[in-house]
Amino acid sequence: MFKHVPKLKSPLPDNSRVSTGVSGLDKIIQGGFLKGSCVLVTGGTGTGKTTLMLQFLNEGLKNGEKCIFITLEESAEDIKADALQFGWDFLKYEKNGQLRIEMYDPFELTDVNLRLKDLIITNNYKRVVIDSTSLFGMYIKDDYKIRKGLYSLVSTIKATNCTAMISSEITEDSKLLSRYGIEEFVTDGVIVLYFMGIGSQGFGSVQVRKMRRTNHAKAVYPMEITDNGIVVSELEKFKA
Ligand SMILES: Nc1ncnc2c1ncn2[C@@H]1O[C@H](COP(=O)(O)OP(=O)(O)O)[C@@H](O)[C@H]1O
Ligand SMILES: [Mg+2]
Repeated sequence: MFKHVPKLKSPLPDNSRVSTGVSGLDKIIQGGFLKGSCVLVTGGTGTGKTTLMLQFLNEGLKNGEKCIFITLEESAEDIKADALQFGWDFLKYEKNGQLRIEMYDPFELTDVNLRLKDLIITNNYKRVVIDSTSLFGMYIKDDYKIRKGLYSLVSTIKATNCTAMISSEITEDSKLLSRYGIEEFVTDGVIVLYFMGIGSQGFGSVQVRKMRRTNHAKAVYPMEITDNGIVVSELEKFKA
């Protein structure tokens, strides 16, 4: 009755860790993402999803890795401007060939899959970011097609050796972890970002909801976006 859902193909498990670029986040996930994994970052608008992904790429760029940023929302120029305000000179890395920023048409979900696989394999990208998968639904009305497309997108990424992050935007009152309710199942990890406004102040926080093969912290941690990027603090800071 139910069709068998095939397991996502991935290379042999590699237990080494890849730093997220946020030391406070690394600390609660045993040092970073598993090499070759694909992690979903989800949350409402302005919670820091794009910033976290920029920081993740910047960490790789600093280490001499080749990285690619696939954007469906902002232009490549905006992405570079976003990064620069945190002191991350993406233009420099673009010029030296370490970084590629591509803006995709959300209408072309199947083409994205094919093109991405080709790009990653040919260029040996170590870090891949897709911001944001929610945009696919703007043009593709058929939910089944979106889910199928997202499933193959993550399969494509996981069939390579790169470590990846994808984002999905949810509304504040959403009970789902992701826009289409599939992203969290097909990815290896889920990081949820929250924002809460109290009076004249706003507080950000982060929770690791899932991280395969990782004994991760389950609590909600305070998170701040500063001029130097995202800072995740220890819980003790709040108790004082
Ligand atoms: N230099 C900065 N210092 C502090 N907060 C910042 C800075 N730059 C951006 N922000 C905050 O980050 C938010 C945007 O984060 P972003 O990563 O784009 O969110 P998302 O991708 O989840 O929509 C802004 O609305 C602002 O609150
Ligand atoms: Mg964003």
